[in-house]
Amino acid sequence: MAYECKNCGYASVEWLGRCPKCGDWDSFRQNESEEDPARVDFVDESPKPLSEISFDSKERIPTDIGEFDRVLGGGLIPGSVTLLGGDPGIGKSTLLLQAATNIAKRGKVLYISGEESSKQLKMRADRLNISANDLIIYSGQSLENAVSHLNELEPICVIVDSIQSLQSTGNSSSLGSTKQVRELGREFTRLAKKKEIATLLIGHITKSGDFSGPKTIEHLVDSTIYFEGKRDNNVRLMRPEKNRFGSTRLLGLFQMTGQGLQEILNPSQFFAKKNGHSDQKGTTTVCTVEGTRPILVEIQALVTPSNSGGSAQRRTTGLDYNRTSLLFAVIQKQLGINLQEFDIYLNVVGGFNVEETAADLGIVSAILSSFQDRKIDSQTVIIGEVGLSGEIRPVKNLKSRVTEAEKLGYRKALLPESHAKLNDLDMNVDLKPVSDLADAIAELELRE
Ligand code: TYD
Ligand code: MG
Repeated sequence: MAYECKNCGYASVEWLGRCPKCGDWDSFRQNESEEDPARVDFVDESPKPLSEISFDSKERIPTDIGEFDRVLGGGLIPGSVTLLGGDPGIGKSTLLLQAATNIAKRGKVLYISGEESSKQLKMRADRLNISANDLIIYSGQSLENAVSHLNELEPICVIVDSIQSLQSTGNSSSLGSTKQVRELGREFTRLAKKKEIATLLIGHITKSGDFSGPKTIEHLVDSTIYFEGKRDNNVRLMRPEKNRFGSTRLLGLFQMTGQGLQEILNPSQFFAKKNGHSDQKGTTTVCTVEGTRPILVEIQALVTPSNSGGSAQRRTTGLDYNRTSLLFAVIQKQLGINLQEFDIYLNVVGGFNVEETAADLGIVSAILSSFQDRKIDSQTVIIGEVGLSGEIRPVKNLKSRVTEAEKLGYRKALLPESHAKLNDLDMNVDLKPVSDLADAIAELELRE
């Protein structure tokens, strides 16, 4: 039966507004009792002491794409299932085709393509200038056929592109439905564990997306990795959301180019400038930490008198809008600078998203630099969280931030005075501790 009354359990093939048995309204829900998402047919081992179980880290299969391997924690584990989620068109197939070709140097890889024909894949591979004899492409949408090829080939790695484009003939639900996706997820997980195959499932999902489709198999898989980016630029970020075999505090950075995805090996050089930021009013450099990685980024502000009559424009790209609103309020209250009649545009250069509050002081400085028409010394990096009363609060990983700035050729750093470990910083950077916004403005010479 397809629907069931959640009140009395009355079953019906169609959805009903009112239950004929108990009379309850809007009580019919899709009956999913026959598919328990948690039930996976694992290999059944006999119990043994932990000390006797061996695992060799050399067993990991590297994708030979450094940023991908780092996020995976060193490579793919045989028998593990990884879900690669992201918006359509973001580059998931490109990434996994590149990875598949590399993995095929170590053993057979089966690439199951439900979305593109084998010719299309070949065209893409040619464009990327990659090839491999042991990379076997199966283009089709039948789960049963895919599984029989898998049984025959016995690959070390399987790629399913995508989990929404295959269908089990035994399942009457439509292509891409939650029910199909769950069944596929279960089947590939079972095969991965049984045959020790490193399995990668592609799913079209957004991080904040809905909770249907591939989202519903997140608990089944060993790792979920999101591939993100903005449509209007070519930076791609890889973030692990869940990882049974490694840390989730990692970040992989790529650039989509004409020859596929390339790693961004030195993000600070990519998002900021060497030896100082652009020599313009309203520009400054901050240091944000993503996971364990300090990254220097350039922030730009443009503050202009508003002519929209009372409702000044506020636009931010790459920054949290609510956080910047709070900073506008702090500027007004604590510095007595009225920005109400000014349009304010804020931008993070290079398409990066700065989420950390450690960038607060840099954002405020950029706004004031544009407002006062005064430049900020280009070799200064600005670090610090701004509190509601205008105080500059300490940030974590201060040392790694300053070290990163030093590496990129920055010579001066504004940082929170209240930092306990300030004395530990022994480097070739002129440290300027500041306690509040007024202090910072004086140090940056941003007062008229
Ligand atoms: P794709 O990997 O097909 O995305 P997904 O599988 O996540 O849906 O990537 C598609 C986009 O990437 C497409 O708009 C073209 C672009 N692209 C490049 O810019 N360079 C390349 O070398 C390739 C193969 C694709
Ligand atoms: Mg694709």
